[in-house]
Amino acid sequence: PAAPSSDAASFLRCLAVDLPPQVVYTNASPSYSSVLESSIKNLLFVAPATPMPVAIVAAADASHVQAAVRCGARHGVRVRPRSGGHDYEGLSYRALSAARPFAVVDLAAFRDVCVDAGRRTAWVGSGATLGELYYAIANRSARLGFPGGVGPTVGVGGHLSGGGFGLLLRKHGLAADHVVDAVIVDAEGRLLDRAAMGEDLFWAIRGGGGGSFSVVLRWKLRLVRVPATVAVFTVHRPRNQSATALVTRWQRVAPALPRDVFLRVVLQNQDAQFESLYLGTCAGLVATMAGRFPELGVTPRDCIEMTWIESVLYFAFYGTEKSRELLLFRGTRPERYFKAKSDYVSEPVPSHVWESAWSWFLKDGAGLLILDPYGGRMGAVSPLATPFPHRRELFNLQYYGFWFENGTEVAEKHIGWIRGLHTEMEPYVSKNPRGAYVNYRDLDLGVNGDDDDGGVSGYEKARAWGEMYFKANFERLAAVKAKVDPRDFFRNEQSIPPLPSSR
Ligand code: FDA
Repeated sequence: PAAPSSDAASFLRCLAVDLPPQVVYTNASPSYSSVLESSIKNLLFVAPATPMPVAIVAAADASHVQAAVRCGARHGVRVRPRSGGHDYEGLSYRALSAARPFAVVDLAAFRDVCVDAGRRTAWVGSGATLGELYYAIANRSARLGFPGGVGPTVGVGGHLSGGGFGLLLRKHGLAADHVVDAVIVDAEGRLLDRAAMGEDLFWAIRGGGGGSFSVVLRWKLRLVRVPATVAVFTVHRPRNQSATALVTRWQRVAPALPRDVFLRVVLQNQDAQFESLYLGTCAGLVATMAGRFPELGVTPRDCIEMTWIESVLYFAFYGTEKSRELLLFRGTRPERYFKAKSDYVSEPVPSHVWESAWSWFLKDGAGLLILDPYGGRMGAVSPLATPFPHRRELFNLQYYGFWFENGTEVAEKHIGWIRGLHTEMEPYVSKNPRGAYVNYRDLDLGVNGDDDDGGVSGYEKARAWGEMYFKANFERLAAVKAKVDPRDFFRNEQSIPPLPSSR
C-alpha cells in the first residue's frame, strides 16, 4: 500500500492535539532555528536553502515519540530521528528535496546513562553523547569501558545504528556488537523491547544505518573490562623520514598486532602521524613495537601511561591535562564545513601509490586521510552477525576534508579534492562492490528517488549504494524492512528500501 499523500497542516494539528506545546517547534516558533541548529555539526547544512523540517518534536517522553510517529503515519509526514546530529550528510534534520514535508524527532533529552557496574551493563538514551556515556561509566568504575568512537560529541543513537568503532575495536569489535537490548518506537508507533520486536529487527537496528527501521529510544549495553593502566603514544614521521615505507609496512603490521594494541595513521600535509592505544603498560607497548614494528622507532620517551578514561580525553583533545568534564560538553554552533568518504582495503596498497599520494596533500583544498586498522576481534566475528559486513578487511580508510570559509568555490575545491583522491584510489581498495562505512555517510554513492514506486524507495536502485555499505546483508535488511515498515515510513535519501515481494 502506498503512503498517504502528505498533509503538513493536518500533521501539525494532530501534534497540537496529542503533544504538550512546549515540545513542538514549528517555523512559527521563535526558537525553531536555535533548536534546529542545536546539534548540527556541518555548516554546509545550516544554509537557508536546505529543505528543513515542518516541525521538530523535542521528545521528553516515549509517548511524545509515539504521538509524532502516529500523526506522521496518519498524515503522510515522515519522521527523521535525530540523536547527536553528526550525520555527515545531515540526514537527521535536512532533506535533499522539498517535495515532501518531514519532521524531526529530536532525542537530545533521552540522555540518561544508568550503569550497573556489578552486572557490567548500562542503559543509555539515544540522545546521550559518547562523551557522556564514557564519563558515566568511568565514574562508576575505573575498570570498565565501552568500545565506541573517538568523537565525544557523537550521538549514541546514530553511532550504534551504524556500527560504531574506536580505539578498542581490535580487542572488542564494534560498539553495536555490545548491544544486548533496546527500546524502540516502530513505524506503527508501538513501544517495543528486544523480546517484542523480534530478533530480525533487533539484528537490523545494530548496524543497518540510522533512520530506516524505527526510532530507538534506549540501548542496553554490555560494558567491557579495561586495565587500570593503559599506554598511548603519538609519533610523527615526515615524508622525508621514510613515511612512505612506514605506511606501506603498517598495512601488514597493524591488522596483525596482538588485540591489545591499536595503531592507526593519520596522513596530512607531508606527515604521517602514528597514534597508538595499548591495554597495558608502556613497557609492554614499547616492547611490542620493538618486536613487531622496529622501523617505527618508538622509544620509552614517546609513551605515556594513564587510565582508560584519560586516554579517551587524550585522543579526543590531544593533551594529557584535560578535565574529564570536557566529555560532557555537547558542542555549540557548528564551526566547520566538511565532507568525507570512506573505503576498505583488503590487500596492501603498493608503496608507489602512497608515494604519489603525497603530491595530493600539496594541492589546494587538501584534507587528510585516517587509516584505522581492523584485524583482532573484528576478524573473529562473522560478516553476517550484524549488518556491518566489513569484518575481514585490513583497514578502513577515511578521506576527510574541512574548511571554515563560506562560498561555493571553496567548497568545490575541498570536495573536489576528496572526490579526486577517492577516484584515484579505486584500483587499490576493496571491489565488487567497493566498500564504504555507513556511519561515514556519503550521498555521492547514490540516493533514493524522490518518490520511487508511489512513495516507497526502489530496491534495485538502492543496491548501488546499499551493497557498498552492507554487501550481502543489504538484501536481509531490505527483507526486514518489508516486514516491519512496508510503507517506508522511516525513509531518507539512503534508508533501506523494502524488499519487493517478487524477490
Ligand atoms: P544523527 O543524529 O545525525 O543520526 C545519524 C543517522 O541515524 C540519521 O540517519 C538519523 O536519522 C539516524 N538516527 C539518529 N538517531 C536515531 C535513533 N535514535 N534511532 C534510529 N535512527 C536514528 N564514527 C565512528 O564509528 N567512529 C568515530 O570515532 C567517529 N567519530 C566521529 C567524529 C565526528 C566529529 C563526527 C561528525 C562523526 C564521527 N563518527 C564516528 C561518525 C558517527 O558515528 C556517525 O555520524 C553517527 O551516525 C552519528 O550519530 P548521531 O546520533 O550523532 O547522528
